[in-house]
Amino acid sequence: MDENTINAGRKLITNVGLVTSNGPVGNNVMSAEWVHRVSSDPFLLAVCLNPLDATNENIKATNEFGVSLAAESHNVAGSIAGNYSGREVDKVKTLEELGVKFYKAEKINAHMVEGAAANYECKVVEHRKLGSHIMYIGYVVKASYTDANPIIYHKRKYYKIGAEVQKPDAKALEDMGDVVSKHRKD
Ligand SMILES: Cc1cc2nc3c(=O)[nH]c(=O)nc-3n(C[C@H](O)[C@H](O)[C@H](O)COP(=O)(O)O)c2cc1C
Repeated sequence: MDENTINAGRKLITNVGLVTSNGPVGNNVMSAEWVHRVSSDPFLLAVCLNPLDATNENIKATNEFGVSLAAESHNVAGSIAGNYSGREVDKVKTLEELGVKFYKAEKINAHMVEGAAANYECKVVEHRKLGSHIMYIGYVVKASYTDANPIIYHKRKYYKIGAEVQKPDAKALEDMGDVVSKHRKD
């Protein structure tokens, strides 16, 4: 892929999902920026994983995974989970020693990160290989959230939610009504 296409891809703003699983590779956590809601009712989450990742092996065997949406305090967790393989390092124990707290999920056999912006326990309903990655669609069987803000991932850096960009208010939208009417389709 050429440099321009790579850089265009990096313009996308994503999350840091801490994807947890427990299977042949053992208790594991990896970082995934490609975590998206794909349906509100039922609540379905998609995660896109490299087929070579240990997490993929765990999910393939168990058909379940957790997503702890990294909070601003989880910058270390995001980098440890995203830079080592669960085949070589027990990342859950490593992170625990570094001060990250986990708890046992209620509806799946995995651990979730305490204090995450949100926690989603998922059962796989579908998976599909799409280019380089496998997309797992998880039905969210248990969801919870905290007051913590999620980390924003952009151009391979972590950011905090910052200044709000104002939406046009009702009056401003009304003032633009004539322009909209001019372009209304019959
Ligand atoms: C912030 C961040 C986001 C990442 N997002 C993804 C992703 O969406 N999908 C993916 O396959 N790998 C992603 N990675 C890379 C994996 O986390 C990395 O390959 C990890 O070592 C896999 O762990 P595992 O082998 O224990 O499953 C990301 C890494 C970082 C640091």
